[in-house]
Amino acid sequence: MEDSDGLKAKRRTNPVSAGLEHTGLYHSFELPDGTLLPGANSLEWQRERLARFGLPEDLTGKRVLDIGPWDGFYTFEMERRGAEVTAIDYTDLDTFRALHRAYGSKAKYLRMEIYELDAATVGTFDIVLCLGVLYHLKHPLLALEKLCAITRDVCVVDTVVIDAEEWRAEGDRGLPYAEFYEYGELAGQLDNWCGPTVGNVEAWIRAAGFARAEVTRVSERSACVLAHRKWGALPKDEAARIVVAGVTSHANRGRSFSSVKEEYLKLWCVWPHEARPQTGELFPEIDGFGAAPLECWITPSGLMVTVRLPPGLAAGRHQIRLKIGAAAWSEPTAFHVDLPGTVVRQTIREIQDGVTWVRGEVDWRNGGWLTVWAEGLSAEADPGNTTVLLAGIPHSPETVDATSGQLNVKLRPLIGAGAHEAVVVHRGASSEPFQFRVVGEPPPIRGLERLARSRE
Ligand SMILES: C[S@@+](CC[C@H](N)C(=O)[O-])C[C@H]1O[C@@H](n2cnc3c(N)ncnc32)[C@H](O)[C@@H]1O
Repeated sequence: MEDSDGLKAKRRTNPVSAGLEHTGLYHSFELPDGTLLPGANSLEWQRERLARFGLPEDLTGKRVLDIGPWDGFYTFEMERRGAEVTAIDYTDLDTFRALHRAYGSKAKYLRMEIYELDAATVGTFDIVLCLGVLYHLKHPLLALEKLCAITRDVCVVDTVVIDAEEWRAEGDRGLPYAEFYEYGELAGQLDNWCGPTVGNVEAWIRAAGFARAEVTRVSERSACVLAHRKWGALPKDEAARIVVAGVTSHANRGRSFSSVKEEYLKLWCVWPHEARPQTGELFPEIDGFGAAPLECWITPSGLMVTVRLPPGLAAGRHQIRLKIGAAAWSEPTAFHVDLPGTVVRQTIREIQDGVTWVRGEVDWRNGGWLTVWAEGLSAEADPGNTTVLLAGIPHSPETVDATSGQLNVKLRPLIGAGAHEAVVVHRGASSEPFQFRVVGEPPPIRGLERLARSRE
């Protein structure tokens, strides 16, 4: 392990600054008429780097986005292969514009921050190039989420990494991490913010919503990692299809999700085997894109698989399906994202104790269960988009039956004996308050037993 001063000095070196100063160009070019323009990076290195992106020679009909193109070597190369290319950069360079002319390029050149990318303004792309940009970002994971949302096939992430030597000698070495540069610690540049390990780049890619990360090159200081939206070759279907009995949020029993929340999908599967599968054998797919699974557990009701909600899902209905190892794909199951609000008024018709069915009250001695009968719920009503406020405190129902309007709720131990009000809130529309009574006192809150006793 290098001492801190040695490490700092190593990070401060900038291998391209001299070449850049000398030539004025970051990239080298061989123009269509054969003219050679030398830059800080050699043509040989650029071509070798390009070969590791794994892209086909013919990109006819493909849309490509090049983020931070600098002088544009990769933009013009993608165009030469037949792609329709958009390049975005937060700065607007004379060199790019002049070379754009020299190549007779039709590529769009937009002055834009990576964080501004979104399908509504730029559309989606088969291939996204994020080359030499990640370490410039103060919010790398946020940026990768933006990229995932607009990538249809693969995003090539080529970036500075801090463990290139060790990775090449020993491969992946455990926990991923990144250095953070508040000042010019990396190459003396204020706009360098982070230096991840190779494993960290892979982890960020999956955490941002891509199906999988594939390392194709680790050189002296950088790595090329392909962020795939699709699963690669999958095991052949040789066993019975997976049966997904239900989909819920990790936070409640509903299947309504919000695109601005950190939410996970739980797939509840029939699982006749004793052993749980490895995470690498799980292949969830949402609307045709792979989504990296987080974990799986065997529970009394079968196998539970947790999957991230990928970014960029439009408001509306979506479908998830699952393949496990050689078992065939499950039937797709639907869930909702960003259901719009409703103006339909909610009405509470009745509240009953959930055990004795006594009207208008709930008794803690029966466990504090209550049933709320509501009118006005939509067909999509579930515990994710329906909340019952009891004494002003939100309760997520255990079950919601949209047809009968039955909501089963367990009182939270914050609510004591006395008269209280209930309000049902469904997709933004609230009911008038409904009076009910609580009988008996709640059990102490775990961890606060002494608080309860001191009051007695
Ligand atoms: C090191 S150069 C990489 C050039 C080229 N992509 C390559 O890898 O050879 C970084 C490029 O990213 C651009 N850039 C850095 N941060 C950016 C951001 N937040 N949004 C858009 N472009 C950015 C810079 O202006 C510059 O063109």
